[in-house]
Amino acid sequence: MFLFVIFFVLVTHVGSIMPGELKPDNIFLLAGQSNMAGRGGVYNDTVTNLLKWDGLVPPQCTPTPNILTLSLNKTWEIAREPLHKEIDNLKTCGVGPGMPFTNQILAERPDFGVIGLVPCAIGGTKIEQWQKGTILYNQLMDRARAASQSGGRICALLWYQGESDCGEQDAMLYKGRLEKFFNDVREDLNSPYLPINLVVISSGEGEFLTSVRDAQLNINLSNFNSVDAVGSTFIADHLHLDTRSAVRIGQKLADSFLYIISPRSN
Ligand SMILES: *[C@@H]1O[C@H](CO)[C@@H](O)[C@H](O)[C@H]1NC(C)=O
Ligand SMILES: *[C@@H]1O[C@H](CO)[C@@H](O)[C@H](O)[C@H]1NC(C)=O
Ligand SMILES: *[C@@H]1O[C@H](CO)[C@@H](O)[C@H](O)[C@H]1NC(C)=O
Repeated sequence: MFLFVIFFVLVTHVGSIMPGELKPDNIFLLAGQSNMAGRGGVYNDTVTNLLKWDGLVPPQCTPTPNILTLSLNKTWEIAREPLHKEIDNLKTCGVGPGMPFTNQILAERPDFGVIGLVPCAIGGTKIEQWQKGTILYNQLMDRARAASQSGGRICALLWYQGESDCGEQDAMLYKGRLEKFFNDVREDLNSPYLPINLVVISSGEGEFLTSVRDAQLNINLSNFNSVDAVGSTFIADHLHLDTRSAVRIGQKLADSFLYIISPRSN
């Protein structure tokens, strides 16, 4: 009976929301490359030879009326996996860290109310492609500004990228490019202390994974925190986090963010 009542309330609540009525209290920007977009559950279909998503949504990624996503056309919708489907639309998306991050925040801090996610990650992109003035940078700014127009507050940037910068040249330039990117984002959003949470990569395309990791581990910015993807498990390509690890990283990112905003309570 009790469960039924909860279910009923949930369904009628979602059902009664009119278009345009959805708006978040708190907003998170999600950017980077494929492991932020999410590839958990993606596999090679041997019949068609195409990549497919297995459609399995773990409980930590369950949609709720309190988790919204900014669609490609910049309207707020109830968020569901694959979160980056519309944005990283040239690739096959699966489960990523965004949904488990948000469910974990709401479990620990229900006072965050309605959370709006702004998916911006694109598979296969290098840090050079995110520098100020590029298409990806402009898209991130454009979507961030559109997101905050509905009144919510941008709480943090979540960043998971670097796998495509593991060649020698890019790896050597990575730290400078990344710090410049973070500083430009804060400046252009008029938010000099915007919390930034980074995932230190544990897989990459190239010989210089360790150099990129070192760069990420030595970022020296205020209101910055990182989580290490080391120990993650991968789908068959050995590059992309599987669903279980995407969930784990999402939850670690939640704790990492909560630590920035109130270090003593953690
Ligand atoms: C915007 O995109 C969402 C999600 O794809 C869709 O449900 C909605 O109808 C679109 N709205 C407009 C005005 O195009
Ligand atoms: C980090 O930055 C601060 C402020 O700019 C500086 O005082 C400090 O020496 C830096 N630390 C390292 C390890 O570079
Ligand atoms: C799909 O198959 C190709 C070719 O064998 C392989 O390179 C790739 O890593 C596979 N991807 C996944 C997600 O299994």
